[in-house]
Amino acid sequence: MPKRDLTSEVQRGLGPREGKVSEKKNYHMSMDEFRHYGRSVVDWIADYYEKIESFPVLSRVEPGQIRDLLPSEPPINGDSFESILKDVDDIIVQGLTHWQSPNFFAYFPANSSGPAILGELLAAGLGVQGMLWSTSPACTELETHVLDWLVDMLGLPEKFTSKTAGGGVIQDSASSAALCALLAARERATNHDTNAHGCDGRLVAYASSQTHSSIEKAVKIAGLGARNLRIIDVDDTFAMSSDALARQITEDRQAGRLPCFVCATAGTTSSNALDPLPEIGRICREEGIWLHVDGAMSGTAALCPEYRYIHDGMELADSYCFNPHKWMFTNFDCDCFYVADRKVLIQTLSILPEYLRNKATDQGAVFDYRDWHVPLGRRFRALKLWFVLRYYGVNGLQHHIRRHVELAQRFAGWVKRSEDFELMAPAPLNLICFRHKNGDSFNQNLLDTLNQSGTLFLTHTILNDKFVLRICIGQTNTGERHVLQAWKTIVETAEGLTKTGST
Ligand SMILES: Cc1ncc(COP(=O)(O)O)c(C=O)c1O
Repeated sequence: MPKRDLTSEVQRGLGPREGKVSEKKNYHMSMDEFRHYGRSVVDWIADYYEKIESFPVLSRVEPGQIRDLLPSEPPINGDSFESILKDVDDIIVQGLTHWQSPNFFAYFPANSSGPAILGELLAAGLGVQGMLWSTSPACTELETHVLDWLVDMLGLPEKFTSKTAGGGVIQDSASSAALCALLAARERATNHDTNAHGCDGRLVAYASSQTHSSIEKAVKIAGLGARNLRIIDVDDTFAMSSDALARQITEDRQAGRLPCFVCATAGTTSSNALDPLPEIGRICREEGIWLHVDGAMSGTAALCPEYRYIHDGMELADSYCFNPHKWMFTNFDCDCFYVADRKVLIQTLSILPEYLRNKATDQGAVFDYRDWHVPLGRRFRALKLWFVLRYYGVNGLQHHIRRHVELAQRFAGWVKRSEDFELMAPAPLNLICFRHKNGDSFNQNLLDTLNQSGTLFLTHTILNDKFVLRICIGQTNTGERHVLQAWKTIVETAEGLTKTGST
């Protein structure tokens, strides 16, 4: 087909909505239409959740399959809303991996819930951009307030509340939080000289071999250079060795380097290992090094007093983050990032052009969250978090977190009692690392067969050079039935593979 000349068609105003652009002409959705289609979208979402278990959890499309179904050119004239929604069914759904399926056990969850979705919808409806306090005071103040609530709810140190020198801010992701922590650490270590002159190659950061890859990315972005990230060994529980950390710091100091940042993890991605925060914190204090604690998924467990031990030593941290968008029923994106000294962070990131000046900022009476992260603009994420906290309450959140941990622990018990499977790492919370005793290629085969079945979705990791399956039980609607079924499917699939002689 010859290529259409879109520009000239647009200029000529071709099609059913023909005619020159006039003041009276209006392509917008009317509020009556919005009400009508809004209801149909909410109904669509509710229907989706009701039938979600009938879809293969992991999408089965081939690369390029979805694009092949999309028209090569954009519509010149608007499509009906009905036809757009129909294409969601006919084109998009097959290309979804169903993260909200209760049979989603892969990676760490990115879960959601009714109140979160509605809070998100409202935020989109309000459409405020809260870069400054003055650009929507409620956007800033609700965020500060809800983040203060969470300090209490998680039993975090008081120094992270806005009532002290610290405070919390919502970032898009734990990766951004880590980057901001590292930038602040860099500036604290160099007395804000790096912002002015750039890195001189002496700064060093530390993480364990199990730390999330976002730290390496942050080190690259912040200009330290990946070679200046020291990878510290872990012990047999995959937790950072504080002795190895101390040795490496000493070596770096002797070589004239400037250690500035340690990232410790409360619940690593591979195996949920808990780094020893008290020892790491003590070393950081003695050495004057910024300690960032990454509790991306597992931090949510601290809602329950019995799991708060995962944060022991947090009083020694300079910053902390966890993601309600992982395990706290708040849809992506929502990372809560806390600092003990907000002045350093703000001084690191603040630039005040004339066009952003306003009285409240000049008086220093308010938080302008644009100074607490990389982007200038920011949306009203606190709304969905507030909806979740208010709708579930502390009791509701604790109930579901406890239930997930209990189910995960039952799964761990089945693995322990099984003759064919073995646990591959301690399982303190809701992530179980396990494998069939038949070896790496059998486990890879087992994983592929399970995921191709569409009935559940698991992912893997490598621990001690062995291919290991991970099952993370944290999806909002995962219950006993799903976990029992998952174990049954895993066992039966392994038996089937054994019978066919798979190795
Ligand atoms: C421990 C840990 N830190 C950081 C991240 C990065 O999270 P985000 O996607 O919010 O950047 C993850 C993601 O799974 C994680 O498990």
